[in-house]
Amino acid sequence: MTKDHISTNRDVWQKDAENWVAPGERLWASDPRWGIWGSPEADLKLLPEDMTGKDAIELGCGTGYVSAWMARLGARVTGIDVTAAQLDTARRLAQVHGADITFLEGDAEATGLPDESFDFAISEYGAAIWCRPEVWLREAWRLLRPGGRLVFLGNHPLSIICTPMNGAPCEPVLHRRYRDMWGADWTDVEIDPSGVTFNLTITDWFALFRKIGFAVVDYKELYAPEPVKGSQDFVPAEWAKNYPNEQVWWLAKPM
Ligand SMILES: C[S@@+](CC[C@H](N)C(=O)[O-])C[C@H]1O[C@@H](n2cnc3c(N)ncnc32)[C@H](O)[C@@H]1O
Repeated sequence: MTKDHISTNRDVWQKDAENWVAPGERLWASDPRWGIWGSPEADLKLLPEDMTGKDAIELGCGTGYVSAWMARLGARVTGIDVTAAQLDTARRLAQVHGADITFLEGDAEATGLPDESFDFAISEYGAAIWCRPEVWLREAWRLLRPGGRLVFLGNHPLSIICTPMNGAPCEPVLHRRYRDMWGADWTDVEIDPSGVTFNLTITDWFALFRKIGFAVVDYKELYAPEPVKGSQDFVPAEWAKNYPNEQVWWLAKPM
C-alpha cells in the first residue's frame, strides 16, 4: 500500500459528505443504534451507561452523532475528523441540538492531542476502517488514561473477502485472500469507487492488540436481523443473515 490513504480518503469524504447530511440529521435525533442494520444500544452496549464527567473522543466522527449520544450520557466530548465538509455538518447539528461538543479537524492517526487525556474512545466506521490499524490504535492507546476503554465497530473481514474485485455486493464466494489481509483499495473498482480501507485477520487483530498492550474485553460479530430485506451499503441482507458483515471490539488499557 503506497497510496497516501489519508488524502485519498479525505478527498472521497469531501465529495461524499452531502450524502451523509440526511443520515446524520436522522441519527442525531435518534437513540444510539449501530452499524448498517441499526442494532439497538440495548443489545450491544457500546457505550458506558453513565458517562458523567468522563472525557470521551470519537476518532473519525463524521457527522458527529456518536459524539452527540455520548454528550447526552454526560461526557465531555471531542470529535475529530479529517474532512472539513463532514465537520460542517457535525457543527451545524451540534448547534441545532444545543450540544456542547468540540469538533476538531485532524487525522485520527496523529491527533496532536495530549497523552492520557481521555477515559473513553470510540470509532464507528471512522478510524476503525479508514486508518492503518497499527497507527491509529497506538494513537488511541496514547490518548487513553490507564483504565480507559476503546470500542470500535467496522466491517467484518469476511465481508471484504466475499466482495468481488469489481466492487459488486458481497456474495457467498471467497474472492480475496484472507491470510495476511491488510484491507482493500476501492479507488479503481468498477462499481462505486471510494477510498482505501483497512482490516486484518482476526488472529492479526489479536496480535496487534497484544503488541500495543490492549486487553480484549469483548468481541462480537454482527449479522443482519431476520426481518431485514434488500441491501444496505452494498451488503445484501440475505448474505448478512448467514455471514457476519460487521465486527465490534471492546478493548481496555490496563491500569
Ligand atoms: C462513515 S463516516 C463514520 C463516522 C460516523 N459514524 C458517521 O457515520 O458520521 C467515516 C469518517 O471517517 C473520516 N476519516 C477518514 N479518514 C480519517 C482520518 N485519517 N482521520 C480522521 N477521520 C477520518 C471521514 O472523513 C468520515 O467522516
